[in-house]
Amino acid sequence: MRILGLETSCDETSAAVVETSSRHKVSLLSNVVASSLPLHARTGGIIPENAAREQVKFIIPVIEQAIFLANCEERRAKRPNIDAIAVTYGPGLIGSLLVGVETAKTLSFAWDKPIVPVNHLIGHIYANFIGTNPKSEILNPKLDARRYSLTADIDFPAIALIVSGGHTDLILIRKHQSIKWLGGTRDDAAGEAFDKIGRLLNLPYPGGPEIEKQATKGNPKVFDFPRPMIGSGDFDFSFSGLKAAVTREVSSSKYKALSMKFKSDLAASVQQAIIDVLISKTLKAAKKYGASSILLGGGVAANQKLRDEFELNAKRYTLDAKIFAPEKSLCTDNAAMIATAALFNYKPIEWKKVSANPELYFD
Ligand code: KG4
Ligand code: ZN
Repeated sequence: MRILGLETSCDETSAAVVETSSRHKVSLLSNVVASSLPLHARTGGIIPENAAREQVKFIIPVIEQAIFLANCEERRAKRPNIDAIAVTYGPGLIGSLLVGVETAKTLSFAWDKPIVPVNHLIGHIYANFIGTNPKSEILNPKLDARRYSLTADIDFPAIALIVSGGHTDLILIRKHQSIKWLGGTRDDAAGEAFDKIGRLLNLPYPGGPEIEKQATKGNPKVFDFPRPMIGSGDFDFSFSGLKAAVTREVSSSKYKALSMKFKSDLAASVQQAIIDVLISKTLKAAKKYGASSILLGGGVAANQKLRDEFELNAKRYTLDAKIFAPEKSLCTDNAAMIATAALFNYKPIEWKKVSANPELYFD
């Protein structure tokens, strides 16, 4: 089974080809990502119409490149040697989503291949199933001299924490295709909090990676920011109060300008507050449901401090669960995770029945 995946839910335009020969072996043959992030950095955030226009520019070039790198062109048949097309159909920005969905439908019609619609959030979870395997032979030397194959040791039940710019959700996965939503944010997502606080500190967009950089030079104990809902008995989150506390701190700061030290201490303190809440809730869920694995996913999962503290705290709580986080480039939006999610949740449908759903969530 070989799947071409497409991802266009926000500001990344991505195409990838994944292949499986048996149920337990996945190979990533190509993963091409074109990002319009530099454009949005200039406007300090994403303007949906700009993002959609960039999607239109890049969608065909990334598909061509992904098929070329995967060596699955069939020149005579004028279509690639694939079995299905997987596409993100939501959630996301409607203009951006439409580019991927309508392209997938057109290709499905032209190539006579079925479509597997994929929930973007479930895609983030499945980025964990693409692991580097240094021992295996290099399948495609053009692919960064690396070959990815399935990490076989992800056992169920698993708890997944999805932390992105738009979402913060805790999910229980009993097995493939059996997913239960446990809780999510009531207001801002964790990535959104990073981005908004980054803006308060005059850091470039997106704020997450910039706050992480600043935090390495700061002391997380300088500012005692709230850990919202850390003790609530449920699996919900809230980050808007934290943003308000940081706003108060910044506006009442004695410093005339935001000094480097103030910025780095504040970044370290706010990062710690967000990490403490994410870890506490996830480990509680893991304990309650007897999880064998904890899967991190979404852009914020690229944060090294978050990854390190998950490992440390799981040991401290004497949890048996193993912690998994995708390779950092696979934490942010990419089509490899969409194609991989489709491999494990293979429900192909006719192109006529697929439509973009910007509000898509969990059942
Ligand atoms: O998953 P993603 O690429 O897009 C969405 O689906 O939203 O996530 C983007 C989010 C942004 O809010 C960005 O600030 C955050 O992920 N992010 C990070 C880091 N890298 C990206 N947050 C904290 N630390 C990072 N290293
Ligand atoms: Zn995402």
